[in-house]
Order: sequence, then C-alpha cells, then structure tokens
Amino acid sequence: MRIAKSLLLLLALAFSGLSFAAETKSATVYKSPTCGCCKDYVAYLEKNGFKVSAVNEENMDPVKARYGVSRGMSSCHTAIVGDYVVEGHVPVTAIGKLLANKPKIHGIALPGMPQNSPGMGEMKSGTLTVYELTVAGTPKVFSVE
Ligand code: CU
Ligand code: CU
Repeated sequence: MRIAKSLLLLLALAFSGLSFAAETKSATVYKSPTCGCCKDYVAYLEKNGFKVSAVNEENMDPVKARYGVSRGMSSCHTAIVGDYVVEGHVPVTAIGKLLANKPKIHGIALPGMPQNSPGMGEMKSGTLTVYELTVAGTPKVFSVE
C-alpha cells in the first residue's frame, strides 16, 4: 500500500513536470537598460511561466522600426513571443489568446505605459485595451484585459 502510494506520487510528479515543460513559453524582450518598468515587466512574464531573455538596447527606435511598431502603438519595451511582436505592458491573458488563436496579424500592443498595466502598477481587470499591430490604418482592438 505504501509502495503504491509513493509510486502514484512519483507518477504525479513526473506528469506535472512534463506538463510544465510543455507549457514553458519563451520571450525575448528588447528594453532600455535604465528602465525600471521594463525590468518589472520581465519579472511579471517570468512569474507567469515565461522563459525570458532580456536584451538591453541603448536606442529602441531601430527595434520599433524592425518590428513594425508605429509611434502610436509604441511603449517602452518590445517583446518577441513565437512569431509575434508583443509591444508594451501587455497582460499575459492577451498573450495567451494570441498563442491559442494564432491570428494572422504581426502582433499586439498596449500603447504607452498605463499605470494599471503589469509592470507598472496594480492591474485592474477590464481596463486595458490591447490593439492588433498593423502596418497602417486604424488600430483594431484585439482584446480588453
Ligand atoms: Cu514601461
Ligand atoms: Cu518597459
């Protein structure tokens, strides 16, 4: 009986380990070396199961240009998650929708640095509008988090 129990425990551990490995997502975050909220956003992603590689950039303008982030959509840092650009203090719930639904857009953005966004301050559900990243035209709402 005791052996069966510990065997079950071992199995449970093995399976939780497997599912954790499968759920590990990676992100590359391009950020300013002196920006505190960028650092806090990286910590937020890590807390939510992302494996983050943070890249310091003295000048973020070329990064925005490279990833097609317009001035109106831009924030302090730019993340790459899979094939998508994730601009700014985007909640992980929105990133989850992006990865699950795989829409044909090049990314999502939370423009500026809203005080109630992750990495900035306490997040209030339903107050953050995330936009689709499009090359031109009127920004379309991706989700409200
Ligand atoms: Cu910021
Ligand atoms: Cu930032």
